[in-house]
Amino acid sequence: MKKLLRRSIRWKHSVHTPDISQTPNFTKYSPIRPINEELAPYVLETMRAFPTGSRHVNQQHYYHNRTVLIEDYLRKKPHPVSLMQLAQYYDDSAQLTKQKIINSGKFVKEELAIRMAHKLHSLQQLPFHVVNNFHFVQAYESYYNIFERFRKYPTIRTIEDNEKFAAFLRRILQDFNSLNLPHLVMGALECTILDLYPQDKMDELLSSLLRARISRRLIVEEHISITSNYSSGKKENTLVLGDIFQECSAKEYILQASKTCEKFIKDMYYESMALPELFIDGEVDLKFYFLPTHLKYLLGEILRNTYEATVKDYIRQGLDKPQPICITIVKNDESFLFRISDRAGGIPINDKNIWSFGKSKERASESLENFHRLPGLQTVSLYDHLYQTNNAISVDKANRPYRHTSLEPMSHTNLTGAKFKFETPLIKLMQRSYRYKLGIGLAMCKVYAEYWNGDLTLHSLPGYGTDTVLKLGNLIHSAKKLQLDKV
Ligand SMILES: Nc1ncnc2c1ncn2[C@@H]1O[C@H](COP(=O)(O)OP(=O)(O)O)[C@@H](O)[C@H]1O
Ligand SMILES: [Mg+2]
Repeated sequence: MKKLLRRSIRWKHSVHTPDISQTPNFTKYSPIRPINEELAPYVLETMRAFPTGSRHVNQQHYYHNRTVLIEDYLRKKPHPVSLMQLAQYYDDSAQLTKQKIINSGKFVKEELAIRMAHKLHSLQQLPFHVVNNFHFVQAYESYYNIFERFRKYPTIRTIEDNEKFAAFLRRILQDFNSLNLPHLVMGALECTILDLYPQDKMDELLSSLLRARISRRLIVEEHISITSNYSSGKKENTLVLGDIFQECSAKEYILQASKTCEKFIKDMYYESMALPELFIDGEVDLKFYFLPTHLKYLLGEILRNTYEATVKDYIRQGLDKPQPICITIVKNDESFLFRISDRAGGIPINDKNIWSFGKSKERASESLENFHRLPGLQTVSLYDHLYQTNNAISVDKANRPYRHTSLEPMSHTNLTGAKFKFETPLIKLMQRSYRYKLGIGLAMCKVYAEYWNGDLTLHSLPGYGTDTVLKLGNLIHSAKKLQLDKV
């Protein structure tokens, strides 16, 4: 009997305890599917102390950060700028001169390094598990990389130096940092899902990072624009010397946005799907100075919601045709207002998180899932694009190369190949198919509308419809106002 017992104990051990040299089979502890080969490298990557291939977030980071960022750049204050100042550089004339271009280049180089340093520092103040989030750490890496590139860029002395600098700026705007926008939002969503950071603080963080991003891009894009104006012989302009702001026809932009929405609806349903009628009234002929990409984005996102709700309501109610959409344009000296009225039944549930980047956990998971499905955002690697010469691409057991992250510059070839357009990432984001509901349209639009001294509100009458009101400040009115995160 004793013998039998001993044998059975030995037998038990030999079956249930794997050899110490073998990988334990963890899958039996988890109800979810085992991690497959395809996913394994990503999981591994999230477990490392430093991202593989990172040039900045590594063992030396602390020391470099202390001497260069904290003890040098953080002591310098960013300069609030006005739209007017951006354009004129140290004198009052509207003429574009060689010296102005050079001064502008010098300013941009130093200012961008300082502004990046301050944003890096604010990311460093976050709890470690937030900034070390898979997505945030890539935005951090990219910010550090930009900081370093501006910091080390040689002083601009001549007009030729500046031409080179403008090319450098164009490259920066188009390369991997075009991913920062989705990375920041995806990072926020992950932090919500994992309960890592309070939602209100996360919204505040994201809004401030986005505002700062808009300002930096404006500074850079304005410099690129005045540089190319100067070299092409155009030496005078009305509001600002570059061409990033343009006179926009409200009606044209609305019609363009509605065309895009109609196309999306047809893609989503079928070609002959009934479409809502669109009426425009009020200041129909309004033309105003604005940043074309921002206007396109704002109207695009808002109309998308309106069209989507209207068509869904038409289907739900089994109506003869979709209810019409009416846009009223109003203006005074200070602002322009667009009231987009629909009769799509209003906002179904009283969702407090409608303006939040984080949302409820359920909605955050849905959004995140859709982000992962966005075409062009799947197979990526910031580190591959950053440092193509190092060993950022690892090789799996079967000798196949794999990449470390799940994001890719949105159609990278387009970004580098096609004619340079301002704010490509934003427009790309807006052009996503209706299938991908990201749940951040209103949150983003609010940041952009507030940036331009306006706001965005929703007035929903459940059972009837919604008025979405977009107000934008008149730029000419505030062109002389000195603002830090608003220019
Ligand atoms: N005009 C509208 N009518 C009804 N619901 C709306 C309207 N505009 C926005 N919503 C609601 O607000 C939600 C959030 O909108 P948004 O932030 O643009 O994210 P998404 O459109 O990706 O869901 C929508 O899912 C929808 O439920
Ligand atoms: Mg939307």
